[in-house]
Amino acid sequence: MTIRQKKKPTQDSGGMKQFKKGANRGKKRRSVPPIQCMEQNVQRYIVGQDEAVRKIITAIYRAIYLKSIKTNILVIGKSGTGKTETLKQIAKRLRIPYTIEDATKYTKEGYYGGDVEDMLENLLEAADYDLEKAQKGMIIIDEIDKKAGKDSRDVSGVEVLKSLLKIIEGAEYYLESDEMFDTKNLIIVFCGAFSGIEKIKKKRLGKNQIGFNTLHESDEKQTGYTKEDLIQYGLPEEFVGRIDTIVEMKQLAKEDLVQILKKSQLSIFRRYQRELREAGISLQYNGKIFEEIAAKSLKLDTGARELSNTVNYIFEDILYNVMAHPGKYSKCTLSLEIVEDNTKYQLS
Ligand SMILES: Nc1ncnc2c1ncn2[C@@H]1O[C@H](COP(=O)(O)OP(=O)(O)OP(=O)(O)O)[C@@H](O)[C@H]1O
Ligand SMILES: [Mg+2]
Repeated sequence: MTIRQKKKPTQDSGGMKQFKKGANRGKKRRSVPPIQCMEQNVQRYIVGQDEAVRKIITAIYRAIYLKSIKTNILVIGKSGTGKTETLKQIAKRLRIPYTIEDATKYTKEGYYGGDVEDMLENLLEAADYDLEKAQKGMIIIDEIDKKAGKDSRDVSGVEVLKSLLKIIEGAEYYLESDEMFDTKNLIIVFCGAFSGIEKIKKKRLGKNQIGFNTLHESDEKQTGYTKEDLIQYGLPEEFVGRIDTIVEMKQLAKEDLVQILKKSQLSIFRRYQRELREAGISLQYNGKIFEEIAAKSLKLDTGARELSNTVNYIFEDILYNVMAHPGKYSKCTLSLEIVEDNTKYQLS
């Protein structure tokens, strides 16, 4: 098998010097947006996760600028807290190709059979078969906690994690197309809910606070999850050792969901409002409706994910009537009860 000569990187190869003011001046290449602009932009979409967003962006920017440092990130957060969405938003703005892989799909045998190569093939496809671009891409591996010892659904879970070490350390792979894929500049992000891990942290903090009866909220906030917590949870030591950034997405409260509905660029409520406006219909409602929607959505344990179901339900009957009578209506008034009964509105 012939090893192809690798092309020299053409983009972003400036390392630290890119931090210097004006390093990009006059150059035609598309530059990476300043980190604070990236943060502000992502915050227009992702609500209530400012600390986590900043941490993820910092780690990804480090991967872009400091090529000699391998970046492997672990994001801990319950369903619907914005893990995947945050990564997608950042990748989109940086034009980084990415692939989302489900760790539960892989078995130890599968790995040795070539599943890591599958991930790389998927990434290459996402990069429109531009190898150079793919090698600087991002692999998001979801549900990694399901492969941890104590929560493992298959006995080979830990073995799968160990077999992932090669890719997270940086290795070269031959693809089916006979091309060599170098993983050393890949950004690898593991995601998982890690349910129950908060108990491990609490216990640790409790131990460290002998002599104090209460654990202050602020202390707890400052102290995120540690590698020891992850090892306790059942992730293999050699795996945890290669994680350099641990990020925690907090569970979203009712007020966060209200803010998502009102302000986020991802707000599905705002999207319906816009669509109706484009059809010539102005939407009237009591601002309290956002609290009602948030409260109903919170009943399920899927965070902000449930908002779209709740809002879709609200507009189902309205949309039918609007589409059945094009041009007939110019105003739609929602009653607060529409959250539970989607016939509670008036079209005029
Ligand atoms: N913090 C947030 N701010 C705004 N919208 C959010 C937030 N979190 C989730 N959402 C909304 O919920 C949807 C699902 O979120 P996302 O896919 O990021 O969840 P997740 O944390 O990856 O959950 P899972 O563990 O189930 O994969 C998003 O597409 C977005 O519309
Ligand atoms: Mg996800």
